[in-house]
Amino acid sequence: MFITFEGGEGTGKSTQVKVLAERLRAEGKDVVTTREPGGTPDAEALRGLLVSGEPGRWTANEELLLNFAARSSHLRHEIKPALASGKVVICDRFVDSSFVYQVAAGGADKMLFSQLVQTIAKGSVPNFTFILDIDPTLGAARAATRTATTAGAAENRFERKGEAFHKAVRSAFAEVANQHSQRCHLIDANGSVDEVANRIWAKLHG
Ligand code: TYD
Repeated sequence: MFITFEGGEGTGKSTQVKVLAERLRAEGKDVVTTREPGGTPDAEALRGLLVSGEPGRWTANEELLLNFAARSSHLRHEIKPALASGKVVICDRFVDSSFVYQVAAGGADKMLFSQLVQTIAKGSVPNFTFILDIDPTLGAARAATRTATTAGAAENRFERKGEAFHKAVRSAFAEVANQHSQRCHLIDANGSVDEVANRIWAKLHG
């Protein structure tokens, strides 16, 4: 089973990935957790290029190409082999992030996106996608706590794209949830870790 988490900055995705993995392991499932951009050494190297430096360092089309290059490596070396051996794969961000950040909010070419999906990720549609939703102002405040650390500060290129960008990200994720309502579940990310985890668990077993 392939599960992805999506959402804006500071929505608590990575925490929820861990909690869900623990709950599934407690049920006896073999679970792999991973993230994008990244997940393999080469894809992590591309991640470094994407998430650091000035916001204008890459155009949206360049970001699209780099993300799909990283994704191709990740699918080949990590996601597909794990799924083929019967594991549950939980991935922090996937193709929907490329649509939302690069195409909808960033203005990248839609045709280029569709071609990359066809070529690289066609057979890899998640079974469940949880889109964590929170007011971008709150999300930015949460993310700012994290970027106060040295490691986080190096990864803040997208966080620095500004309020209008992050509002566009939120509404594009809501639109994705609407358009793919079988696969995607919009989750209210306000509340305690357990409250949000319970909302996710209810959708998974619903
Ligand atoms: P992530 O570490 O999940 O960010 P956060 O924890 O702050 O939510 O992802 C890093 C950044 O990469 C994030 O700002 C969103 C961006 N991104 C894209 O723009 N396109 C993509 O396809 C992916 C996977 C991520």
